Amino acid sequence: MQRLHFGAAWYPEHWPPQRWAEDIRLMKEAHFTVVRLAEFAWSSLEPSEGDFRFDWLEQAIAQLAEAGIWVVLGTPTAAPPAWLVTQYPETLAVDEQGRRVQFGNRCHYCVNAPEMHRAARRIARAMAERFGSHPRVIGWQVDNEYNRVCYCDHCHAQFQAFLQQEYGTLDELNARWTTAYWSQTYSDWKQIPLPIGPHNPGLMLAFRRFVTRSYRNFQRAQLEELRPHLPSSVWVTHNFMNWFGGFDHYELSYDLDLASWDWYVATGHHDHLTSGAAHDLVRGYKRKNFWLIETQPGHVNWSQTNNALNKMEARAMAWHAVAHGADALLYWQWRSALNGQEQYHGTLIDQSGQPRPFYEEAQLIGAEFARVSDLVIGSTVQARTAILNCYESRWAIEFQRHNSAFDYVAYLEHWYRPLSVRNLEIDLLSADEALDGYQLVIAPALIVLDEQRIEHLRAFVQRGGRLVLTLRTGMKDRHNAMLPSRPPGALAELAGVEVEEYYSLQHPIPVGGKLFQGTASLWAERLRLLGQPFTTVMARYGASNGWLDDQPAVVVNPYGSGFVYTVGAWLDERSQDTLVRQILLNTSLKPFETPPAVEVRVRVRPDGRRLYFVINHSRQEQTVTLPWDATDHLTGQSFAPGALTLYPYAVALLTRQEDVSVVG
Ligand code: GAL
Repeated sequence: MQRLHFGAAWYPEHWPPQRWAEDIRLMKEAHFTVVRLAEFAWSSLEPSEGDFRFDWLEQAIAQLAEAGIWVVLGTPTAAPPAWLVTQYPETLAVDEQGRRVQFGNRCHYCVNAPEMHRAARRIARAMAERFGSHPRVIGWQVDNEYNRVCYCDHCHAQFQAFLQQEYGTLDELNARWTTAYWSQTYSDWKQIPLPIGPHNPGLMLAFRRFVTRSYRNFQRAQLEELRPHLPSSVWVTHNFMNWFGGFDHYELSYDLDLASWDWYVATGHHDHLTSGAAHDLVRGYKRKNFWLIETQPGHVNWSQTNNALNKMEARAMAWHAVAHGADALLYWQWRSALNGQEQYHGTLIDQSGQPRPFYEEAQLIGAEFARVSDLVIGSTVQARTAILNCYESRWAIEFQRHNSAFDYVAYLEHWYRPLSVRNLEIDLLSADEALDGYQLVIAPALIVLDEQRIEHLRAFVQRGGRLVLTLRTGMKDRHNAMLPSRPPGALAELAGVEVEEYYSLQHPIPVGGKLFQGTASLWAERLRLLGQPFTTVMARYGASNGWLDDQPAVVVNPYGSGFVYTVGAWLDERSQDTLVRQILLNTSLKPFETPPAVEVRVRVRPDGRRLYFVINHSRQEQTVTLPWDATDHLTGQSFAPGALTLYPYAVALLTRQEDVSVVG
């Protein structure tokens, strides 16, 4: 069912069925179109091995159907029940200290345990047989927020088998990992340990790949059971945790139809530049629209302070998600359970069964989603700017930060923010993607290079793209070994520079040129020009450790029909902003100037009509300048060009009147 969906996670198994009608009535009044069910309900669905009790779920779906509400079903495998882990203790994961994880929370399973796979397949198959072709079930979610790493003997043996498959021979593995270092040479696959604590960088990176492969296999097992029973219109997703770094999200998304994620602000208030990056990240998993399948109704229960979002802040957040490509928003969760670990979490309905104050805001959002669903659905974000994200590079850096404050994600956001604040649509893409259609590509800390990445970047610049290379680029191969060249490896030809030395900085140092005078902190690379005729130094280091004094820090080099910028230092925010502005001037990308707290994002409909989402993310009134006549589809109001006042947390969904006459 294609529409802009709105709903929540509902756990009817927590309540007597006599209550359900009232819940569904309240959902209807909040304009729910979808409800997510069953993702932790294993013990209610299969109270003992092979004994399936699906009638209650059937009944709940039937009642929702009667109210016209659609359903997403979760496979309940993130909560293996007590009987399962007692009968098959090896389904429980083992932690780094070799202890079996205790039963009583969730995600306590070993992702590779054969009995866990058998049990997961059994419940997924049974659910799919019963509900796969149910006309009200529009999608499925496999498991819930994959996260745990298991260190049991079985996983250990599986890891060794994985390495054998990847490397073929021990000679190859020993060479790639330079195991002669500290006498690590392996003469039998069985000697290879699991990395607990710091280890050989090659082994550590391979282990992250193994964890990715483990979850992929676990997910595939369930997909194999689900898919034969699902009509082609029914999708399967998994709810990811945005920047969680435990596995490669691109690889896991590959087998799914739809990407979705869980957005929690936790303590404090949302920062639209940070969350915008997270939405764009998830949109990049499959390069299409996504679902915001969980978000907080007011407050959570697991953070430092658990403060509530301000009144109308969640509405701004909802439209912000849609503006970045979400086609659905579901709150977690509908009603507070009387007991269980999450008693204090925000919900729409409290423990007494009555709507909380937040319910009113949800009602408003639901009504707005319903009003504009036809207008919005089918529209997509069309970005000409991309930032590359690479799990291997991130892991390689996280294993050896060199400067403990060096954070890969923070650095990526350091590039995202000055672009986003100018209201440019940005794709956050896997570093393995081809780069056709973009004007500007930024590759933050792309430390791991391979032939394909180099080729994509080269082709992009050759065709006229503007490429930004940064510090910590092109130093490693896919085995986390140093390349036998100076950074940025094979990209030096494009960049017109190589890195002579890298310096971890204890204190900020001066850096500047005509464009800006600022500071570099954490990291600075001394760039050496390779003697290409048009390489230009844009900024140099000032007096610092002697080695860096007066050396190039930021350089631009023409290549093919394009330009390559190399930024060797972590610049202060102002200088970074100025540099980004300058780089943009060298493109035809048109920033939309707004006050920093106001966001304007565009989704484009299949008929070419542009939808402008204008959101005031602050508690202060803001003003933007409207360049054209517009209609706000949330209120029906029309606006002439000129100043548009936005009250605190205001949202407008504008189309240009001129567009209407063009496309009808
Ligand atoms: C999510 C989880 C939900 C719920 C929520 C609370 O991480 O998927 O089941 O626990 O957190 O904020």
